[in-house]
Amino acid sequence: MVSRNRFLFWSLLLGIMGLAALSQPTSVWAQSPTPFLPASPSARAIRDLMVIILWIAALVFIVVEALLIYAVWRYRAKPSEPDTLPRQIHGNTPIEIAWTIAPAIVLAIVFVMTIRTMGVVAAPPPATAAGEPLLIKVIGHQWWWEVQYPELGIVTASDIHDPVGRPVQFELTSGDVIHSFWVPELQGKTDVIPGRTNNSHFTVDQPGEYLGMCAEFCGAQHARMRFKVIAESPEEFETWVANQQSPPAEPATPLAQQGQQAFMTNACIGCHTIDGTAAQGKTGPNLTHFGSRDTIAAGTLSNTPENLARWLRNPQEVKPGALMPNLNLSETTIDQLVAYLESLQ
Ligand code: CUA
Repeated sequence: MVSRNRFLFWSLLLGIMGLAALSQPTSVWAQSPTPFLPASPSARAIRDLMVIILWIAALVFIVVEALLIYAVWRYRAKPSEPDTLPRQIHGNTPIEIAWTIAPAIVLAIVFVMTIRTMGVVAAPPPATAAGEPLLIKVIGHQWWWEVQYPELGIVTASDIHDPVGRPVQFELTSGDVIHSFWVPELQGKTDVIPGRTNNSHFTVDQPGEYLGMCAEFCGAQHARMRFKVIAESPEEFETWVANQQSPPAEPATPLAQQGQQAFMTNACIGCHTIDGTAAQGKTGPNLTHFGSRDTIAAGTLSNTPENLARWLRNPQEVKPGALMPNLNLSETTIDQLVAYLESLQ
């Protein structure tokens, strides 16, 4: 009876887990990033180590399970003599030495390989034909990523543009609590700690978009603290840089002009900066080129007028606990702000 209940319990648990895996929550990015598809030398070194360790673990698993199944079958109680124990071998010195030394050797091999991989991953990025490393400062906030290019005078959020083939040197710090910076396809995790600067780097070798995330629980919206590395050709990157460096065009339509007016006279300017305007707040994301970004609220919503209106109507409905309060804006004001903000290309 007990074994039957246990069977039911495990079947139910596995069934629930299977259903949970199938019913993926709706996300801006349908596909999850995987360290099994590396796109940088560092990530490749990590993947290679991971694959070797997986094979070693699989081999150990098969050997141990095979011995276990063999012992269970070979020494099972026989119907003819149900009360006879097989020969007991505890205290067998050669066997105990063997099963101490074998795992020690396996772990020593894994240890040496891990140290070598850590060396590869931690080595400072070399200058390549594509140029000196590009410095990017990333500041973790509850719950979004601020991205600064100090040498280029650019401040943005959530989307990290970088040129393929050129090493990128990251300086990571936090404005509040501990976060962790992780782009599975490009590099391992690095803690992002207030009052301290940690370094990470990678050189992306294929153009594409690589999803990043916070990998350290940092509060209610930890799961909605995503970002994206957009690796593009040097020419595309230069175009992006030139666009980011110039202030946004003045709003062209009456609706967008009213939106600018609304932005400058509401609480918005207390927290957000828009270059070339009176808005110089530093608490929230810099919105100078908001319209050119892919997402709103650190990957929570894709950047469309409908989603922006939903966010402005009540940020707490979209991302409960986010620092942006519900400003109780009228629908008219929301329409104006959407027109203005989406015009900031
Ligand atoms: Cu930031 Cu988790």
